[in-house]
Amino acid sequence: MRASATRSPISVRVVRPIDQAVSREELERWGEALGATLEPGDLVALHGNLGAGKTTLAQAIARGFGVEAEVTSPTYALAHQYQGRGGILWHLDLYRIGGPRELEQLGWDDMVAGDAVVMIEWPERAEAYLPVPRLDVYLATVPGDTTVRHLKVA
Ligand SMILES: Nc1ncnc2c1ncn2[C@@H]1O[C@H](COP(=O)(O)OP(=O)(O)OP(=O)(O)O)[C@@H](O)[C@H]1O
Ligand SMILES: [Mg+2]
Repeated sequence: MRASATRSPISVRVVRPIDQAVSREELERWGEALGATLEPGDLVALHGNLGAGKTTLAQAIARGFGVEAEVTSPTYALAHQYQGRGGILWHLDLYRIGGPRELEQLGWDDMVAGDAVVMIEWPERAEAYLPVPRLDVYLATVPGDTTVRHLKVA
């Protein structure tokens, strides 16, 4: 069982602050390292504008978590489930959700309360349902350079 009250917040446990422009390769290495440290019940919120690299990062995190299946964008299904070394990994993309009340139909409560690791693109669409503790990762395109992205974890 997840003893959330006794766990360190994920952001404290697994990552040092980062605030810099990164190449795709650097982002993928960072994601794989993060994925290797995730534990049951961890939630990673992937913030960022269209094309910022959220899915690219989610794929790297999944590789680091030991997912061998191909990880594709859950644009239409909204949620994809994978098996990793440490258990179940959910990858959600809430871009197309009609509103936070639709989360219930996705099985949201079980996803976020259980032992699965959860990665969420467009997490702000969950509004007040977005759980804490969580790791907030911020990606952004960089004007004038299409090959790098700004990566920030506070
Ligand atoms: N430094 C970089 N980091 C990540 N992606 C990069 C980088 N440079 C270029 N790219 C490209 O940017 C695109 C990012 O697309 P991706 O689907 O990961 O973004 P997204 O944030 O998930 O978009 P959406 O909001 O549509 O879901 C990919 O085609 C990727 O190859
Ligand atoms: Mg995406």
